[in-house]
Amino acid sequence: MSRRDALLLGGLGTAGIVAGGAGLWWTVSSRFSPVAGAEFTEPEALRSSSGRLQVRLEASPGSVRLGGQQASALGYNGGVPGPTLRLRGGDVLAVELVNSMAVPTNLHVHGLHVSPQGNGDNVFVVVQPGHSFSYEYRLPADHPPGVYWYHPHHHGMVADQIFAGLFGAIIVEDPDPVATSRERVMVISDITLDGSGTVADASPMDRMTGREGDLVLVNGQSNPKLSARPGERERWLIVNTCVARYLRLRLDGQQMQLRGMDSGRYPAPGTVDELLLAPGNRADVLVTAAAGDATLRAAYYNRGGMAGMMGPAGPAPNGGQGTADIVLATLSVSGAPAPAPPAVPTQPAPADLRNAVVAAHRQLTFAAGGMGMGMGMMSFTINGREFNASRTDTTAAAQTVEEWTLINPSPMDHPFHLHVWPMQIIEARGTTPDAPLWRDVVNVPANGQVKVRINFKDFAGRSVYHCHILDHEDQGMMGVIEVR
Ligand code: C2O
Ligand code: CU
Ligand code: CU
Repeated sequence: MSRRDALLLGGLGTAGIVAGGAGLWWTVSSRFSPVAGAEFTEPEALRSSSGRLQVRLEASPGSVRLGGQQASALGYNGGVPGPTLRLRGGDVLAVELVNSMAVPTNLHVHGLHVSPQGNGDNVFVVVQPGHSFSYEYRLPADHPPGVYWYHPHHHGMVADQIFAGLFGAIIVEDPDPVATSRERVMVISDITLDGSGTVADASPMDRMTGREGDLVLVNGQSNPKLSARPGERERWLIVNTCVARYLRLRLDGQQMQLRGMDSGRYPAPGTVDELLLAPGNRADVLVTAAAGDATLRAAYYNRGGMAGMMGPAGPAPNGGQGTADIVLATLSVSGAPAPAPPAVPTQPAPADLRNAVVAAHRQLTFAAGGMGMGMGMMSFTINGREFNASRTDTTAAAQTVEEWTLINPSPMDHPFHLHVWPMQIIEARGTTPDAPLWRDVVNVPANGQVKVRINFKDFAGRSVYHCHILDHEDQGMMGVIEVR
């Protein structure tokens, strides 16, 4: 049967034709079926040398490998995720961003402490279709090691572009690395594909609540298989690139030790049973393999919803049901036991602003409600205003410390993100952490509030803060900050 004949038959919607060794048959399923269980792979790693990494990143639509199948999505240099960029403190990262898509885009280096001006981490740059732009990011010599990431930031299209495959990891190498058997970068994303492997559009409801894809992938793979020997220590660098999905990660039967989250480091790693990554968050984890099989899972996390509008409706991810766990990867541990690894070196104590002089106190209130610009659409605001790139909402004095109270009277969580300058959590839901906790995405729970302190050191310029449920950001839950 020719493709034309198949098209003439019509009436089957997105049904596909599958030709296999056993002949030819119709499949009436319009759902994408991933192939799970392949050997774990990682995106290509590009490393700096002599203090510089020069890369070309071409954002383009095309056929990419997702869940073990070909799909029509977006990718940087044809892959999902894009290449992993490995840097050291003091390096210069030069990126030529080439836009081979039909819509505008740009680039943001999420979490890096670099200048937001000019051709630095400037989200106000627009790269039109067919054009390119040369970014240059200069990392301070003492830049915190850890895992960061890059993604587009053109307002109004951020969720669509990331959901369709535009993201990649950035690693800032540890000057005092932990001895491990191996290091794995795990970029976790979600996407919805139809039966023909095309990325699904977000419905108005998806945009309101924040879209969650029904495939949850690790490095573009569905439930990849990882192997280790008993006693081996691995370092996992995990990124949550999902547009709106929170990842409550568990690795039952294995020991997980947390070395850091975002740019925040812990002097000594602490054992954790569970790790909550809001959209945009990253974790630096040590896993000491114990014999047997274990699954890396995402347990259900209730992030609320618009009153009476949301719930775990519809088909659950990876073929699961309702609030069931999502299996992300399988770790098989067997073979001859490895010798015990040496002790984990302690990391320098993080900065602490709890006793700092506070130059200004501010309140930021997040609202999802009322009527926005579009007919029947909700509005998403911070302090009652939708994003406007030409307005400056917050002006802070360089070299001062501020305290911000993030207030969320809405019935759903909003993960708050500030570019360039990391935040220290001072109080969350009425409790004060007993050690300095640094994040660049801080979850502000439904009907809750969080206090953070920020040190506006090093860099001046205009940048943004926003909700990292990127559908909310695209609809206006973003503000402009200028430090001068
Ligand atoms: Cu990861 Cu402004 O974003
Ligand atoms: Cu960011
Ligand atoms: Cu939000």
